[in-house]
Amino acid sequence: MALEAEKSCRYGRWSLKRMTALVTGGTRGIGYAIVEELAGFGAVIHTFSRNQQNSMNAYKNGKGKGYCEWISMQVNNAGILIHKQTTEYTAEDFSNLMSTNFEAPFHLSQLAHPLLKASGNGNVVFISSTAGIIAAPSSPPFALTKGTLNTKSDIEYT
Ligand SMILES: NC(=O)c1ccc[n+]([C@@H]2O[C@H](COP(=O)([O-])OP(=O)(O)OC[C@H]3O[C@@H](n4cnc5c(N)ncnc54)[C@H](OP(=O)(O)O)[C@@H]3O)[C@@H](O)[C@H]2O)c1
Repeated sequence: MALEAEKSCRYGRWSLKRMTALVTGGTRGIGYAIVEELAGFGAVIHTFSRNQQNSMNAYKNGKGKGYCEWISMQVNNAGILIHKQTTEYTAEDFSNLMSTNFEAPFHLSQLAHPLLKASGNGNVVFISSTAGIIAAPSSPPFALTKGTLNTKSDIEYT
């Protein structure tokens, strides 16, 4: 789904016009705030979530183009938190957590690579958590999924 800024850029000093952003889980919470902020600076936004109605609302609020030929920035925001002690985790809980918080950003970034490359200066942002540095007792496995995102790399992909 695409959302385009309807107002001129909030601040005159810089803008994101002609930029295209893919934001996962942009229908509520932090992702929604990211969508609003980027759109406010003039970027065309593509976003989605599991809930079809929420995704459609995002579409109706904007001027969707339905496709994109390049992506200037990809924000891997969608994530879940399962509040359980490690000993209470089922195999399904662990699989859901890993697939949503770690595998999906990895595979989506791989898939987006040609579109990021086409922009000439593509960037990928991963939304982590302080739990990725110091695990919270409410869900150590969640900390694991975020810690994997924190590894610093200076590698530039061409
Ligand atoms: N809130 C915090 O205090 C906090 C702190 C540290 C880090 N974070 C991180 O920030 C990110 C956003 O957190 P939030 O609190 O804004 O979460 P949220 O309010 O629960 O929103 C999550 C968004 O992701 C979507 N989503 C979840 N699973 C998805 C899936 N499998 N495929 C597609 N979309 C999916 C949700 O929509 P649907 O349910 O419709 O799919 C929703 O739009 C997460 O990565 C989270 O770990 C949050």
